[in-house]
Amino acid sequence: MGALIEAALRARENAHAPYSKFKVGAALEDETGRIHTGCNVENATYGLTVCAERVAVFKAISEGARKFRRIAVAADTDALTPPCGACRQILWEFCGDIEVILANPRGKTETLRLRDLFPRPFDASYL
Ligand code: THU
Repeated sequence: MGALIEAALRARENAHAPYSKFKVGAALEDETGRIHTGCNVENATYGLTVCAERVAVFKAISEGARKFRRIAVAADTDALTPPCGACRQILWEFCGDIEVILANPRGKTETLRLRDLFPRPFDASYL
């Protein structure tokens, strides 16, 4: 778990967040143990901003990874930052009920399950 949090904290340093100044890092571990990282990438239009979690998921998918164990999300907040609603939907699509580890740079962590953060999700089972 330490290595995954470290990877999320390191990825956070690459955040492109000139508008919000709110830097987020994510680290997604696949079934082979490989870690796929992401950071938030903002845009002057604001609305085209992509969160750290989605960058990590899309990078992983584009590299061929398909099964995931857990994701760490790091931001510099005392009340640990959870994934936004859009990211919960994307995480559910590709990762199902994974472990979500929240962390900050001062060593505070909390581990949750996506199912608890995102009860009654819409997914392909309804199509
Ligand atoms: N953000 C993330 O990257 N992940 C989250 O879990 C919460 C929000 C980003 C989006 C935006 O760049 C900034 O944080 C402020 O909302």
